[in-house]
Amino acid sequence: MDQVMAVTGNVFWVGVNDRETQRFENLWPLDHGISYNAFLVRAEKNVLIDSVKALTQEDHFRRIAELLGPGNKIDYLVINHMEPDHSGAIPWLRTHYPEMRIVGNVKTLDFLERFYGIRENIVKVADNDVLDAGGARLRFILTPMVHWPETMMTYLEEQKILFSGDAFGSFGALNGVLFADQQDDRDQYLNEMLRYFSNVIGRYSDMLQKALVKIKTLAIDCIASTHGPVWRRDLDQLIALHDKWSRHETEPGVVIAYASMYGHTLQLMEAIVASLGRCGVGRVMVHDVVNVHPSYIVRDIWKYRGLILGTPTYNMRPFPLIEDLVSLLDNKRMKNRLLGVFGSYGWSGGGVKQLVDFAAAGAERWQLVEPVVEAHCAAGAEDFARAAELAANMAGRLGKQD
Ligand SMILES: Cc1cc2nc3c(=O)[nH]c(=O)nc-3n(C[C@H](O)[C@H](O)[C@H](O)COP(=O)(O)O)c2cc1C
Ligand SMILES: [Fe+2]
Ligand SMILES: [Fe+2]
Repeated sequence: MDQVMAVTGNVFWVGVNDRETQRFENLWPLDHGISYNAFLVRAEKNVLIDSVKALTQEDHFRRIAELLGPGNKIDYLVINHMEPDHSGAIPWLRTHYPEMRIVGNVKTLDFLERFYGIRENIVKVADNDVLDAGGARLRFILTPMVHWPETMMTYLEEQKILFSGDAFGSFGALNGVLFADQQDDRDQYLNEMLRYFSNVIGRYSDMLQKALVKIKTLAIDCIASTHGPVWRRDLDQLIALHDKWSRHETEPGVVIAYASMYGHTLQLMEAIVASLGRCGVGRVMVHDVVNVHPSYIVRDIWKYRGLILGTPTYNMRPFPLIEDLVSLLDNKRMKNRLLGVFGSYGWSGGGVKQLVDFAAAGAERWQLVEPVVEAHCAAGAEDFARAAELAANMAGRLGKQD
C-alpha cells in the first residue's frame, strides 16, 4: 500500500506516476516520467477533480478505493481538461462508480460525448459557477485554450486551493513527495517546468495571460496542477515565472542551434561562440540539432533573448532538422527575440536565404541581427570577420528588451 498523499485534511492526491510513456504527446521526451494528478475532495459529497490517462487507471482506482473505503461512492467528477492524459480513465471510472455525475462546461461536455459517447449524469457549469459539495465549495473558472478550448480551473474556496489544470505543470513523476518545496534539486526541477511550459503550453501564452488576470482576484494558498508537484509555498515565484514566460520576457543569453555535415558550418559556429565569449556573453547554449531533441532547444530559446541558427544548404533548402526546428518555433508563436543566421553552401545556396526569409516573415516577432554570414564552401577570412561582427552585434543588443 502506498502512503496516502494528502494536500490538506480532506484533499488527497489520487493521481498516478507514468514511467512507461517515453514521449509526452508522443513528442516530448520524458526523462524522469510524468504524473497525471487527480485529487479527491472528501466533504459531504466526494468530489474527484480530474482523472488520468487510460491504462494507468489501476493505481488511480486503488488510491481512490483506499480512501473511500468499502461502499462509498464518488458523487462528482470535475473535469478541468478533456485531453486524454486526464480523461482516458473516465469510461472505466463510470463502470465502477455508475452514480458519479460528471461536471464540465459546455465544451467539456461536447468532447465527453465525442470521445467517450457519454451524455448522461452530467452537470453543466458556466464561468464562476459554484458547486456546493457540503463543506466544500468549488468555483469554476473558465480558462479556454490553456491548453484546449474547454480548459477550466477549479477553486476550492475553504482551503483556497486552485486546481489549475495543465497550467503551472511540469514534466517529471512525483518521487515520493507531493510538494514542490520538498524537492531539493530546484534548478533541475525549474528546468523541467520550463521545458513543459515551452513545449506544451507556450503557444497559448496569450490565453495564459488572460487566465492569470482572472485568478489574480482569488486568494490562493495552494496550486495543484495536473502534472508535477503541488505548490503550497513560493506561489508568488511560481506565478511570476509563468507571467514572465507567457509575456515572452527573456534573459540575456544566446542559443546557437546548428547542423553541419562536413564541418564548414561548424567552423563558423565555433568562430561565433568564441566572439560571443570575447564580447562578454556568459550564457551561450550550443545545440547540434542532430543530437539534441528540439524539446530542449525550444526550452532554451524560450529563456534567452538571442538565437543564432546555422545551416548548410541541403537540396536548395536548410538542413532538414533545422527546417523542422524553424517550423516548430513558428508553431510556438515565439516573439521578442533576436535572430542571427549563418551557414555554408556549395552550389547556388538557398538554406541561409530561407532562414532570412523566416525572420522577415515574422519580423514583428524575430528581429534579424546583421550581418547574415554565409560561406561558399569553406569559410575564409571575410566570413570569419562577418561571424565576429554578427556575434558583436548580438552581444550589443542582448541587454535590451525590444
Ligand atoms: C546531400 C547534400 C546536398 C546539398 N545540396 C546543396 C544545394 O542544394 N545547394 C548548395 O548550394 N549546396 C548544396 N550542398 C553543398 C553543401 O551545402 C556544402 O558542401 C556546405 O559547405 C556543407 O556545409 P557543412 O560542411 O557544414 O555540412 C549539398 C551537400 C550535400 C552533402
Ligand atoms: Fe493538456
Ligand atoms: Fe495534461
